[in-house]
Amino acid sequence: MTTTPLYAIPGSTPAVVPAAAAAPAPLPAAAKPAPVTVGEVLAQSQVEAVMDELDRDLVGLAPVKARIRDIAALLVIARLREQLGLAASKPSLHMCFSGNPGTGKTTVALRMAQILHRLGYVRKGHVVSVTRDDLVGQYIGHTAPKTKEVLKKAMGGVLFIDEAYYLYRPENERDYGQEAIEILLQVMENQRDDLVVILAGYKDRMDTFFQSNPGMSSRIAHHLDFPDYASGELLHIADTMLATSHYRFGPGAREAFSDYLQRRLTQPHFANARSVRNALDRMRLRQASRLFADRDRVLTADDLSTIAEADIRASRVFAAVP
Ligand SMILES: Nc1ncnc2c1ncn2[C@@H]1O[C@H](COP(=O)(O)OP(=O)(O)OP(=O)(O)O)[C@@H](O)[C@H]1O
Ligand SMILES: [Mg+2]
Repeated sequence: MTTTPLYAIPGSTPAVVPAAAAAPAPLPAAAKPAPVTVGEVLAQSQVEAVMDELDRDLVGLAPVKARIRDIAALLVIARLREQLGLAASKPSLHMCFSGNPGTGKTTVALRMAQILHRLGYVRKGHVVSVTRDDLVGQYIGHTAPKTKEVLKKAMGGVLFIDEAYYLYRPENERDYGQEAIEILLQVMENQRDDLVVILAGYKDRMDTFFQSNPGMSSRIAHHLDFPDYASGELLHIADTMLATSHYRFGPGAREAFSDYLQRRLTQPHFANARSVRNALDRMRLRQASRLFADRDRVLTADDLSTIAEADIRASRVFAAVP
């Protein structure tokens, strides 16, 4: 198992993303007087900063952001109830994030872990991101130790299971995935005050998975649907991605990128914000080649940070259309 910095390379699972360095410890029990207002819980936990960041950094996703605010409200109120001796048991926090590739599920899971940590619902707030292969063994007797090892890593944080439906293969009579599911179910029930499980994947496949696994379905308290981004949102995402890496669109380049998106959207394997990121990477590559070709020119900061219209129009996407 590898420990990776923020934003794990896809495929290099299981990736352990550490809790944000700046995150304060969960609500101190004795150090400060117990909060008695929503404002005091928010101030002590600094959870609002995470929610504001989420609102600011992530383009679109209005329904997801609204659901996260609802969940945060539930947790804050649960805190206050606990303070007054009204709490029965810890709220169940296991979630399902459904949506197409590149709609922000992994990104939001990281923020969710921060929120849970700041409100004191998980001790550490890290995210362990896995797929079927990290949990299920190839041979008899291999699955339980694998799954338990992953669970051990994830304790005190969030276990994010991408394409969770691959755990269940009904066509395969003796599939070891079932063994992993059973262990997960037990831990999700018995250790839910120390581990939050987020299942992620395509909506229709998640629905089918839940239909065949009612035990799993009944343990998921929150379902968040991640919609595909509209083309305007994708363009906005491109702006924010460029800005954070100190690049910008030159004259005509933003319009060219908008044209690019219109075409790319209709092609196979379009993966929302992930495709935007990949497209920008290729455009940066073309910008570098263009600048590299000119050995004698003095390159200004402006030259080095500008993506030109030509860097975009050179894409294959334009060649494909007569
Ligand atoms: N709303 C958004 N605003 C800005 N950037 C975004 C947004 N959504 C996603 N991104 C960026 O797009 C990339 C893909 O997002 P992420 O990995 O969270 O999606 P995903 O749904 O987990 O996709 P996959 O199914 O491919 O794993 C990341 O680089 C992320 O930072
Ligand atoms: Mg992901």
